Amino acid sequence: MGLTSFVKASESDGVLTLTISRPEKKNALTGEMYTALADELERAEREPGIKVVLIQGDGDSFTAGNDLDEFRAQAIEPESEGSEESPAFRFTEVIAGATKPLVAAVQGNAVGVGATMLLHCDLIYLAENARLITPFVNLALVPEAASSYLLPARLGYVQAYAMFALGEPLNAAMAVSRGLANEVVPIAELRSRASAAAVKLAKRPVGALAKTKSLMREHSRMTAQMSEEAKIFKERLVTAEAREAFAAFAERRAPDFSKV
Ligand code: COA
Repeated sequence: MGLTSFVKASESDGVLTLTISRPEKKNALTGEMYTALADELERAEREPGIKVVLIQGDGDSFTAGNDLDEFRAQAIEPESEGSEESPAFRFTEVIAGATKPLVAAVQGNAVGVGATMLLHCDLIYLAENARLITPFVNLALVPEAASSYLLPARLGYVQAYAMFALGEPLNAAMAVSRGLANEVVPIAELRSRASAAAVKLAKRPVGALAKTKSLMREHSRMTAQMSEEAKIFKERLVTAEAREAFAAFAERRAPDFSKV
């Protein structure tokens, strides 16, 4: 295992396993972690020995999504280069453009980008305690990673709206019944189940896998949606509403949007 202190990478049987490993912060993703993940996904595209990428998280949560301390800092001091080039945006672009199969093993909370990245994965295994949560409006933000298109397309409008606007979690059984994941697995078997599926995929003909994925995914549509989302996301990030949401998280209190 190598890479950064918070993202580990290992390879075997044609499978590159990326493990998000910042369990003390519920695997919240910093800019450095997005960059490490995007770099590894790009390396997987280049290296013929890597046939499949498996994404998993250490600890009790898959990931709590974007690091809210970093969002808070960006809300106070916006990045001059703009969110389209931010590590988070680059990660979503790279994962949406992956031509090799992506497998995910998810336990506990998959929040924000933790849930939306799954919309770009091809096989998804959930532990019984997995919950997909997309609380963008609670944070005064908007959906990203083309989820404003993909989630309503897969769940139907009203369920997707409840997830985005009310932050309602989708539990593992519901996620499988709605076609968002393949299987619910006992937590002790989660990694072995996902890994076995990844190894099986790695034995399939690479060319046929890539063409099948490209036929099934509307890549140019995703890119256009992400670009539109990113423009609005960047504007939202510096609003008084968002500053209140981030401050509330840091201060462990409920946000009060009535004063902003
Ligand atoms: N960014 C930064 N730190 C985070 C984080 C995030 N997204 N999510 C959790 N953490 C930190 C907490 O601040 C806490 O740090 P501390 O121990 O130094 O105080 C630690 O991780 C544990 O989190 P805690 O909230 O105590 O765990 P929990 O089990 O009670 O709840 C979550 C887990 C994931 C439900 C909750 O942490 C949460 O809602 N996080 C925010 C998720 C979010 O809104 N993400 C952004 C989506 S766009």
